[in-house]
Amino acid sequence: MKVLVTGGAGFIGSEIVRELDARGADVVVLDYAPHAMDYQQYATVYAVDVSTNLHDIFEREQPEYVIHHAAQVSVSTSMKQPDLMVS
Ligand SMILES: NC(=O)c1ccc[n+]([C@@H]2O[C@H](COP(=O)([O-])OP(=O)(O)OC[C@H]3O[C@@H](n4cnc5c(N)ncnc54)[C@H](O)[C@@H]3O)[C@@H](O)[C@H]2O)c1
Repeated sequence: MKVLVTGGAGFIGSEIVRELDARGADVVVLDYAPHAMDYQQYATVYAVDVSTNLHDIFEREQPEYVIHHAAQVSVSTSMKQPDLMVS
């Protein structure tokens, strides 16, 4: 099973990546700030902004599932600036 996790370097995404790896999944991470990740040895990591065109990555990786956790985390910021993707 191949699973692509956006925001995989974040608070929730990183826990999901670890759990998927523990269950034997093939994990692909998309995160524009993956430098803090300590699990790059067991996940394929792309340092990309998910608001850009991801066609080539999906074509190459062919994930069966996508778990989306790359997002603007602040509710108040997202209400004030709904087009702002990142915090
Ligand atoms: N943490 C919570 O308690 C909580 C509760 C409910 C819902 N959520 C939601 O879960 C999601 C993730 O929350 P979190 O706490 O893990 O946040 P986080 O900030 O720790 O992680 C988000 C990750 O997404 C990445 N990211 C953000 N925008 C990106 C983009 N455009 N392209 C690529 N990467 C991008 C960041 O680099 C970061 O690593 C958010 O949608 C949040 O609103 C979180």
